[in-house]
Amino acid sequence: MNRTNPIGIFDSGIGGLTVVKRISSFFPNENIIYFGDTARVPYGNKSNDTVIEYALQDANFLFKKNVKLIIVACNTASSVAIDVLKEKFQVPVIGMIEPGAQLAIDTTNNKRIGVIGTYATIGNHAYSSEIKKHNPKIEVFEKPCPLFVPLAEEGWMDHPSTKLIAEEYLNDFINWDIDTLILGCTHYPLLSAVIEEVMGDKVTLIDSGTAAASVVEDHLNGRGLRNTSVQQGQYEYYLSDLSGKFKDVAERFLGRTVGNINKVDLEQLI
Ligand code: DGL
Repeated sequence: MNRTNPIGIFDSGIGGLTVVKRISSFFPNENIIYFGDTARVPYGNKSNDTVIEYALQDANFLFKKNVKLIIVACNTASSVAIDVLKEKFQVPVIGMIEPGAQLAIDTTNNKRIGVIGTYATIGNHAYSSEIKKHNPKIEVFEKPCPLFVPLAEEGWMDHPSTKLIAEEYLNDFINWDIDTLILGCTHYPLLSAVIEEVMGDKVTLIDSGTAAASVVEDHLNGRGLRNTSVQQGQYEYYLSDLSGKFKDVAERFLGRTVGNINKVDLEQLI
């Protein structure tokens, strides 16, 4: 393995581009290969067994491309498949749950943390178990917010309907008096302005992608694998389905133009 090998990042679809955005701003000269399983998205309402099977295939696709590290951008996949993935692949595998939970623990003052995510992430109590493993005294309040995913993909960041839906989902957290809220899904950072508006300035939002970046840094530095090139990193995008909408939505998630987009047939994965 050498320093110039790419970092692999995968997600159930395009949402993981929010994580690519974070990683590329922390490590602008790292090469990145992204795989989005757009043919089989969403993962958030599938069974754990199915998500584990898909996550193994997604990670294997990246592994075969000689990535030096795999980031599981998808919170749903991180919540059920991280142990299997870590055991199976001989490169570091970094999920969203451990870094996001740790940052929330370090942030909360009143020891009351909220978590929002897909049905699967919340149903598996992924963040709450991780938090309680480190500090059982912290109270964790969880709620699935499934409608945030299509709203973010539709680009309705400041649409009045998004505000209404956010109020409906988040009012309980205000009553629960949390001071820290984990955005436990790839799409939610795009809605952080409206979430912040509803929650008020006493609540700190935790972006797991940002939290994961410091874990990535430790792994790269610890193994001498940080790309020291002065050149901007090269990006390749692979998707299991390519719809006409992809480029627009991807550019909104990533905040810049997207090129080098490749279609992968599902048969190549399984
Ligand atoms: N990427 C998923 C996550 O972060 C959200 C979309 C889906 O349900 O697949 O949990």
